[in-house]
Amino acid sequence: MVCLGNICRSPLAEGILQSKVNSNEVFVDSAGTAAYHIGKSPDGRSIDVAAKYGLNIKNQRARKFTVKDFDQFDRIYAMDDSNYNHILLLARDDKDAHKVQLILNERDFNQNQSVPDPYYGGSLGFEKVYKMLDEVCELISEKL
Ligand code: 4NP
Repeated sequence: MVCLGNICRSPLAEGILQSKVNSNEVFVDSAGTAAYHIGKSPDGRSIDVAAKYGLNIKNQRARKFTVKDFDQFDRIYAMDDSNYNHILLLARDDKDAHKVQLILNERDFNQNQSVPDPYYGGSLGFEKVYKMLDEVCELISEKL
């Protein structure tokens, strides 16, 4: 799960998908394309909305996406088209590139919709993002 800062959207996506899969079979992680927040906990608004729905994401720490992630993960979900393009620039070959997908295309095929960045808004934006990610992570977990 990849967003820009790895403190708002992708920590939620990580926590939500993790809660829907068997951890012996599926390893879920998240990262950001930017280095601004490396080592930090998720944004308090993400922690709060996750807690409201029974998920604890506060022990996550932000990290930056690296080319090694293409070796470790089978699927790489970008939250928006900017994250998507950034990750693709790091792809070494077609195999890497094919792992990358806009997460909302799992719900609305080929629509290329983005999970909106809630960072500069209020808690309502985080609620919206949570619901969107919960819906699409349910579909991803069924597929897995
Ligand atoms: P995220 O949100 O990409 O969902 O973690 C953001 C977090 C921080 C910033 C931008 C977006 N920032 O500009 O610091």
